[in-house]
Amino acid sequence: MIILIINNVVILAGIGGFLAMLLVIADYFLANYGDCNIDINQGKKKFTVKGGSSLLSSLAEKMVFIPSACGGKGTCGLCKVKLLKEIGPVLPTEKPYLDKDELKNGVRLSCQIKVKQDIFIHIPEALFSIKKFRGKVERIIDYTYDIKGVYIKLDEPKNIEFKAGQYVQLESKKYGKVKQVVSRAYSMSSPPFEEDKIELIIRLVPDGIMTNYVHKQLHQGDDISFTGPYGEFFIRDSKADMIFVAGGSGMAPFKSILADLEKQQSKRRIVYLFGARTEKDLFLVDEMRHFEDTLADFTFIPVLSQADEDSDWKGKKGYIPPILKDYVKDPDNTEGYLCGSPGLLAVTEKEMHKLGIKNVYYDSFG
Ligand SMILES: Cc1cc2nc3c(=O)[nH]c(=O)nc-3n(C[C@H](O)[C@H](O)[C@H](O)COP(=O)(O)OP(=O)(O)OC[C@H]3O[C@@H](n4cnc5c(N)ncnc54)[C@H](O)[C@@H]3O)c2cc1C
Ligand code: FES
Repeated sequence: MIILIINNVVILAGIGGFLAMLLVIADYFLANYGDCNIDINQGKKKFTVKGGSSLLSSLAEKMVFIPSACGGKGTCGLCKVKLLKEIGPVLPTEKPYLDKDELKNGVRLSCQIKVKQDIFIHIPEALFSIKKFRGKVERIIDYTYDIKGVYIKLDEPKNIEFKAGQYVQLESKKYGKVKQVVSRAYSMSSPPFEEDKIELIIRLVPDGIMTNYVHKQLHQGDDISFTGPYGEFFIRDSKADMIFVAGGSGMAPFKSILADLEKQQSKRRIVYLFGARTEKDLFLVDEMRHFEDTLADFTFIPVLSQADEDSDWKGKKGYIPPILKDYVKDPDNTEGYLCGSPGLLAVTEKEMHKLGIKNVYYDSFG
């Protein structure tokens, strides 16, 4: 009897799956949604697109760029827009990224919505200033065995305006077996006053589409494009002490921020804790020591979690969260800025709140 029930369930599931697949194939090949109008901010911008693509890519086609760190995979939750007219139910792929208020107010993930009818949306006006940039790779630096610095000299537009700490969405090209063109988020590590170029610091992710493209396919002189600037990760205008925490390529926004603070002759107290496994994972240490000389009150503390047994490392060992307390003078007058992997960020943020630091800002790379 049980075997019969299991058999029936398997058969039904198989038929269901087959029908769903047929629907997807039919939708792909047969559906013709014709021209659809997109209206942004009650007529501020209006255009017509061919239906069938995601709202995110339809907007990008018309040079309206929504933050989309995962490049439309539905895993970053950044591509939110507010629908002013309902277009159908929220998809299961959107739900994990939308809170109760957002669900009530028509907020949706633009990468998950397919344009099949006229769409009316609201987005922050600041997004209108995001541009597409084209440039050439000026220089590639090997910072460590798995981290590269990539300098891009801008061709069109020739200059970029951004706040130190913000990121761009870099675009890849097809290579080898990878037939997809993807875009991924990278923080600018060069300072805003170098307007005609940007530097990105990119860590190789095994099997990662973009990072393998950058590490193994990209060469000096190659054309490359990106959109930006995006993001809210920049230092707040106050006199509070600042604690920076980063690991790996999380160094990128802090390199930009520190150069910017140096230019402004900032007097703020800054402690920068940088986590790495071994000495092989440390980079830009001389540049950080330079900021100790030029900034009024800056300390750089590299912390190794797996220092080699035979190394003569005299610096800090272990993990950052347990030693944070040694560097916080007045929690009410301290801001935390964190950048790197979601794991590092979660434990560090928790520890900062435990120590009484209320204002903690971060860019999570995961
Ligand atoms: C706001 C923001 C700023 C960022 N800035 C930087 C930056 O300055 N420098 C930088 O190197 N990265 C940065 N990232 C991460 C970057 O956007 C990509 O996610 C990362 O480079 C991987 O891209 P990929 O196409 O190579 O990997 P994918 O092809 O997207 O992923 C391949 C596989 O690796 C896993 N994976 C994805 N990312 C990581 C990761 N970081 N570590 C381990 N496994 C991963 C995925 O789950 C997947 O299984 C940033 C991310 C965000 C959201
Ligand atoms: S672009 Fe990342 S979830 Fe939509």
